[in-house]
Amino acid sequence: MNPEKPDRNLAIEIVRVTEAAALAAARWQGLGDKEGGDQAAVDAMRKMLETIEMDGTVVIGEGEKDEAPMLFNGEAVGTGNPPQVDIAVDPVDGTRLLADGRPGALAVLAAAPAGTMFDPGPCVYMEKLVVGNEAADLVDLDRPLADNLRIVADANGKEMRDLTVMMLDRDRHEEAKRQIREAGARLQLITDGDVAGGILAAWDERPEVDLLYGIGGTPEGVVTACALKALGGQQLGRLWARNDDERRAAEEAGYDLDAVLTVDDLVRSDDCFFSATGITPGQLVNGVQFRGNGAITQSLVMRGKSGTVRLISARHRFEKLRRYASVDY
Ligand code: FBP
Repeated sequence: MNPEKPDRNLAIEIVRVTEAAALAAARWQGLGDKEGGDQAAVDAMRKMLETIEMDGTVVIGEGEKDEAPMLFNGEAVGTGNPPQVDIAVDPVDGTRLLADGRPGALAVLAAAPAGTMFDPGPCVYMEKLVVGNEAADLVDLDRPLADNLRIVADANGKEMRDLTVMMLDRDRHEEAKRQIREAGARLQLITDGDVAGGILAAWDERPEVDLLYGIGGTPEGVVTACALKALGGQQLGRLWARNDDERRAAEEAGYDLDAVLTVDDLVRSDDCFFSATGITPGQLVNGVQFRGNGAITQSLVMRGKSGTVRLISARHRFEKLRRYASVDY
């Protein structure tokens, strides 16, 4: 036997990036300023990304949907030395949650070998169904929702009335809401943050959510896929156009709006990395907890290739953080 030498786990380094973003953004909790909180997270992320030994290109940037301040698509990040990686950023997933001081806002970053992340192009939204390992090979987006609920309940060894479906609270989900209620499952509606929702559905350490269903951001779907590479489970997705113009733009760009995408279509390599740090308190991870001279963060840090999942708590001292200037810690 010739065991492989342990190699580098980039996730252990990118956690500093999401921690920095969360620490900066947390100052904006409840201030009613979505853009301010997002900008603080972007600035902190950019600064910390400079330290990471990689030749990264942002392929999933923030901003298109809400014209938020971007780490823009095509932006080069890292030191410029190998490895060449695609980077997906979501400096604040849940900008409204942060601005309103509600639970569940996360700072998120994922990395995968260059050219392996799905390019959402003009497709802002995607229908998604996320489940854990037990039901991963059983669900089918072409089946009625109620059938999928039954399959997941059976796979998870639960009665239907104990099955919990997490879903974004949106008008476009009224019909799905009705079907879920009629099937007899429980609903947990969230106002934002379906990256956390997808992870909650798949991660066996948080068994309170069995399934995430609904139409949410395509970029968030790609980021979630990186996490699922480590966690196991499945995310099925189908690109969703809001109107005829969007449908036409997607079709002209070569996208098939009927195709069902899996985790492997959204990230075409297992050699991917994911880190998310809580900004506001949440069901997935704690938010930033301020102390007199510093703060505590909690992050979920994963590597696809090895399936390693780490929950990392860190104590930060403001005096040290302020060395990174320009960011107001
Ligand atoms: P932002 O933080 O970029 O606002 O995204 C929050 C979010 O709730 C995502 O988690 C979700 O995928 C998407 O918005 C849903 O889009 P919309 O708010 O337009 O329905």
